[in-house]
Amino acid sequence: MQLREVEPGDWGAIAEIDETAWSPESDPGYGVRGVFRPTSDLPSATIVAVTEGRVVGFVECARRTSNPCNRDVARLRCIAVHPEWRRKGVGRALTLAAIDWAWGQSFEKIVLTVMSSNPEAKAMYEACGFFEEARLRGEFVVDGVASDDLFMACLRRLVPARRSAPSPTHAAPEDVSQEGST
Ligand SMILES: CC(C)(COP(=O)(O)OP(=O)(O)OC[C@H]1O[C@@H](n2cnc3c(N)ncnc32)[C@H](O)[C@@H]1OP(=O)(O)O)[C@@H](O)C(=O)NCCC(=O)NCCS
Repeated sequence: MQLREVEPGDWGAIAEIDETAWSPESDPGYGVRGVFRPTSDLPSATIVAVTEGRVVGFVECARRTSNPCNRDVARLRCIAVHPEWRRKGVGRALTLAAIDWAWGQSFEKIVLTVMSSNPEAKAMYEACGFFEEARLRGEFVVDGVASDDLFMACLRRLVPARRSAPSPTHAAPEDVSQEGST
């Protein structure tokens, strides 16, 4: 498996994975909207996993906001692996690549959210060094069943860099807007 920065020809495969990867247990907007919208206004990286010449998964990590006071925090915004390629280590490799990128960009912390109805993803994040930092109880109701929204974090001081990371896909001007938290 190769991990590399996204290339222009990859977006079709990414869209295909995005269409097949999600479920009501993993996406609170399932059936209402598409999941992945690439970040264009903040430093970010989209990394793909390629096996046998095929993109089988992707992850996007970006600066969380443009606020100067928030400059040390990145956000793992989206990760998905094609259903046929799961439980083969692709998701873990992508998550570790996103961590590498974030530390390479001098972020100190990475945050993400995951639904409590998605324990597979939570287990993957924990295997990569994320921990649960906060929980919004009963945030979503899926088919009549309440699900919590979990906030997870990974800290650079606890999970050091493994190797050099890819450079950002998009470079944004420093601290130009006062956009609020996502
Ligand atoms: C979550 C997701 C990215 C995991 O990708 P993956 O390639 O299957 O994950 P990996 O094979 O690297 O597994 C890494 C670890 O995650 C955990 N894990 C992953 N899938 C699991 C499952 N179905 N059941 C239990 N644990 C699981 C395990 O701890 C696993 O380590 P192990 O194989 O050594 O036991 C994939 O299931 C996916 O695309 N899901 C839909 C999209 C999604 O939920 N994204 C996250 C939204 S927050």
